[in-house]
Amino acid sequence: MSAPLAGMRLVVSAGPTFEDIDPVRFLGNRSSGKMGFAIAAAAARRGAEVVLVAGPVQLPTPPGVARVDVRSAAQMFDAVMAALPCAAYIGAAAVADFTPRAIAASKLKKQPGQDTLVLELVKTRDVLAEVAVHPQRPRLVVGFAAETDDVARYARDKLERKRLDMICANRVGLAGSGFESDDNALLVIDANGERALGPAPKAELAAVLLDIIGGRLQAGGAA
Ligand code: PMT
Repeated sequence: MSAPLAGMRLVVSAGPTFEDIDPVRFLGNRSSGKMGFAIAAAAARRGAEVVLVAGPVQLPTPPGVARVDVRSAAQMFDAVMAALPCAAYIGAAAVADFTPRAIAASKLKKQPGQDTLVLELVKTRDVLAEVAVHPQRPRLVVGFAAETDDVARYARDKLERKRLDMICANRVGLAGSGFESDDNALLVIDANGERALGPAPKAELAAVLLDIIGGRLQAGGAA
């Protein structure tokens, strides 16, 4: 394969984040990392220098990719910011929106007669939105939107609100797309319009997505 992304650095986030409650429990989500790892692999095959910031997943590192493992949303934030500058940031990770205010030092114990437990959660920093306004903003900031309904409308809202160049919307909560599945379907939205990709294996979708992203980066020169 030719190397259309040679000389360009891409940062990709993938997988879930785990927000610890105490030494044995955490809040997580069902992201397997498959979508983000497929994107990192496709970028490396096109000759890019790729940094893959990965939440806790059980996947092998794609050939030619530099992987940084993280656990929490705060760690993912720090790792992505440390990986700047880059030509493009692609945020495929499912980052927790909220995290426990404090991590208990010892395992939380049930009290006699206790029927409920209230956890106080605080908002995490939005990695994608902060990359998009960073002084070293990548030329292309690409987000994902995981939605159970009204996929296109919520995705367009995120594209605008988070100041992105492109967003890939996918439906979650259905078999055969979104979390965990080997397949997915994407609605890619940018200033040029909308393009539906799939349903198809995540590796195939990643290849088409990287061709779209590569085309936009080449139009603007290497970085
Ligand atoms: O990992 P898989 O099992 O293969 O599943 C793939 C996927 C469904 C996780 C992936 O395709 C996907 O949709 N990833 C984004 C999931 C998500 O968290 O979407 P969101 O709509 O909640 O967030 C919107 C965007 O903001 C995302 O790019 C997310 O990375 C980013 N974000 C969100 C919160 C936060 N604190 N920081 C962020 O950067």
